[in-house]
Amino acid sequence: MSDFQIEIKGVSYSYPVREGYNVKAVKNLSLNIRKGEFVALTGMNGSGKSTLAKLLNGLFQPKEGEILIDGISTADESNMFEIRKKVGMVFQNPDNQTVATIIEDDIAFGPENIGVEREEIIRRVDEALEAVGMSEYRTRTTSKLSGGQKQRIAIAGVLAMKPDIIILDESTAMLDPNGRKEIMEVACRLNKSGITVVNITHNMEEAALADRIVVLRKGRIAIDGTPKEVFASGLIEACGLTLPPITELSRALAEEGFVFDGVVISDEELAEGICRLLK
Ligand SMILES: Nc1ncnc2c1ncn2[C@@H]1O[C@H](COP(=O)(O)OP(=O)(O)OP(=O)(O)O)[C@@H](O)[C@H]1O
Ligand SMILES: [Mg+2]
Repeated sequence: MSDFQIEIKGVSYSYPVREGYNVKAVKNLSLNIRKGEFVALTGMNGSGKSTLAKLLNGLFQPKEGEILIDGISTADESNMFEIRKKVGMVFQNPDNQTVATIIEDDIAFGPENIGVEREEIIRRVDEALEAVGMSEYRTRTTSKLSGGQKQRIAIAGVLAMKPDIIILDESTAMLDPNGRKEIMEVACRLNKSGITVVNITHNMEEAALADRIVVLRKGRIAIDGTPKEVFASGLIEACGLTLPPITELSRALAEEGFVFDGVVISDEELAEGICRLLK
C-alpha cells in the first residue's frame, strides 16, 4: 500500500472544443497527497484547478496518466461509486447546492440515495449538522440562510456521505468575510478530525491556513510547498496572484529597516516580530 491517499501520476486532460481542437487544461501533472493533509490549491483563472478537482472525484477521466484514491483507480468504471463516496465536493455557489427545502432532508438526500438505513441516516444528519455548527437549524428551510450558512449545509451534505477527502472549489468566493471565516473554521475542524482537505482558492490568506500550497500555472504545478516557502518564492506574484496583506505589510516594513525572520504569514507572527524588534 502506498503512503499516499491521493496519487496523481502524469495526468493530462483536455476539453474538446471543436473538431481537431482541444484546450489542454491539465498537463502531465503529478502530485501526491497524504491522508489528513490540508492542501490549498491555487492559481489564476483557467490554470486548471477545477478540472483537477473533477478528475479527483472521477467526474472526468484522465486522457493520459492515472489517478489513484486509496490505491483505487478513478479510470475504472466499477470504482466510480466508491470514488464519489470517498471524495466529496463543495462548489462555489451557495444557492445551487441544495436539493430539498428542509435542511435535514437536504442533508439526508445523499445517504438516502445510496440506500443507507433510516437509523443510520438520522445519526449521520446529526453528526454532520454538529460538525458544521448548524444543529439548531435542523428543521428550518434552506432558503432563509446566509451564504456562509448555506455553504455549511452544503458541507454537511457532503459529510453525510462519510467522505475521506473534501474538496472545496472556491466555496468561499461568493461569501462575505464572515461567511469565509465560518467556512475556513469548519474546514480546519474537519481536517483536525482526520479528513483530508483540498481547498481551491484565490485568496492567499485562506491558502496560508493550509499545511501546503500547490500553485498551478497553465495546467502544471508552478510550486508546491509550505505557505512560507511558497510566499517566499516570488512565484505567487509571477503566477498573477497576490500575497496576503500581512505578508505584503511585513515586506514593506522590511524595506524600512524592520527585518523579520523569514516570511510573515499571520497577524500573530507580525505582532511577535514587531515586539522582538522593539526590544
Ligand atoms: N467545459 C469546458 N470546455 C472547454 N474548455 C474548458 C471547459 N472548462 C474549462 N475549460 C478550460 O480549461 C482550462 C482550465 O479551466 P479550469 O476551470 O480547470 O480552471 P480554474 O483554475 O478552475 O479557473 P477558475 O479560477 O476560473 O475557476 C481553461 O483554459 C478553461 O478555459
Ligand atoms: Mg475553477
